[in-house]
Amino acid sequence: MKLLVLNGPNLNMLGIREKDIYGSKTYADLEKMIFDHAKEKGVEIEVKQSNCEGKLVTFIQEAYQKVDGIIINPAAYTHTSIAILDALKAVSIPFIEVHISDVSSREEFRKISYIAPYAKKRIIGHGFEGYIEAIDEFLK
Ligand code: DQA
Repeated sequence: MKLLVLNGPNLNMLGIREKDIYGSKTYADLEKMIFDHAKEKGVEIEVKQSNCEGKLVTFIQEAYQKVDGIIINPAAYTHTSIAILDALKAVSIPFIEVHISDVSSREEFRKISYIAPYAKKRIIGHGFEGYIEAIDEFLK
């Protein structure tokens, strides 16, 4: 099993940004947690982050026929990006949408997700643990 984890804009600022919402652990902590869990489960995993919409689209295209699943937190692009949705549909790779915070109980605009209708599953508001749950979901 080979998985790709994609993180969108400002997630590299974890541990600095809005700690009351996202916690005090850093992006490096998140990556370590994902790599440790993947190793324990024998899953091959790649973790990428970009602040640029186009780069995220390219990462998705590059995964075509190379990975079995994508775990994606498009961050703010969740609520705006048709390009990311189209890339996910183009490669036909099953994906799980993850959000650290509970986007359903925040501002109205965070309730919109262009990718949600096509996601294998949505995991929201479970903190970093959401990524672990997504890996386990692909292993089911
Ligand atoms: C987020 C929620 C988004 O609304 C926000 O723009 C983010 C992070 C989350 O993981 O909770 O940057 O995707």
